[in-house]
Amino acid sequence: MSENDLLIEEILKLKKKSGALILAHYYQRLEIQKCADFVGDSFELAKRAKEAKSDLIVFCGVRFMGESAKILNPTKKVIMPRPDAGCQMADMVTVSKLREMKNTYPKAAVVCYVNSSAEIKAESDICCTSSNAVKVCESIDADEIIFVPDKNLGAYVAAKLPHKMFHLYYGYCPVHKNITLEDAMNAKKRFPDAKLFVHPECEAEVVEIADYVGSTSGIIREAENSDAKQFIIGTEYGVVERLTEYNPDKKFWLLSPKLVCINMKMTSLINLRDCLKDQFGEIDMPEELRMKAFSALDKMMRI
Ligand code: 13P
Ligand code: SF4
Repeated sequence: MSENDLLIEEILKLKKKSGALILAHYYQRLEIQKCADFVGDSFELAKRAKEAKSDLIVFCGVRFMGESAKILNPTKKVIMPRPDAGCQMADMVTVSKLREMKNTYPKAAVVCYVNSSAEIKAESDICCTSSNAVKVCESIDADEIIFVPDKNLGAYVAAKLPHKMFHLYYGYCPVHKNITLEDAMNAKKRFPDAKLFVHPECEAEVVEIADYVGSTSGIIREAENSDAKQFIIGTEYGVVERLTEYNPDKKFWLLSPKLVCINMKMTSLINLRDCLKDQFGEIDMPEELRMKAFSALDKMMRI
């Protein structure tokens, strides 16, 4: 048995003993995904956390995801093996910068991408994820929208809803923004028979030449259901690892080796084992803040 297999065995025993529900994002290392009760994109994970019956939720992802779980299901203990794993995009917007935008555009509704802190959610009218951003912005009763923090997702949504006016904050995911049109064209030249699937956090010129644009779950679903046999994947490496493992009849290439989120890769099997054993890394926040952030998240969940 390999060292990883032994750790996975130990983790599964600890999970059973503690009654914990382990949630993991698709960008987590494959061995972490294998320990989870549920693996999903940020929306699906928020939904699972909200519906969780277990008193203990172990969240393998980045901090805003653990925070969303606590906001949506506050009576549960939410712990993270790496609570120090942040999201660089979420850190780009501050409450004072958002308030400045609200003062400049007082009639606009505030839509915040779920990749944001609890404080930003508390200042927003409604949240969205990459899987429902268009739907959320379309559904709200406002013609003017402040969209934070991702300028690329915001621009993607704005292009789909030309009848609404968008004020975009200049935030971005350094992992996806790093991908250039040249990277995408080169990958298409190398693998001419492959379909190009990308995440909307990529730059507009990359999104424009893609065969499919969607959240991590959307990309996985679409690739698994497609008749095509080869795919260039323009999102984090964890998605390629998973698709390759579970679809041996298809070929998946990562658009660029730059597509690795160091924060998502922080969680190791040892971290997960220790977290289950000692139950450290609890996510909590003042109730007033939680209630305000809940309102924005809950409105999204109802759409
Ligand atoms: P998903 O909403 O597709 O899970 O994406 C989250 C994320 O962090 C993308 O970089
Ligand atoms: Fe944040 Fe980008 Fe990592 Fe997603 S991939 S968690 S947006 S830094």
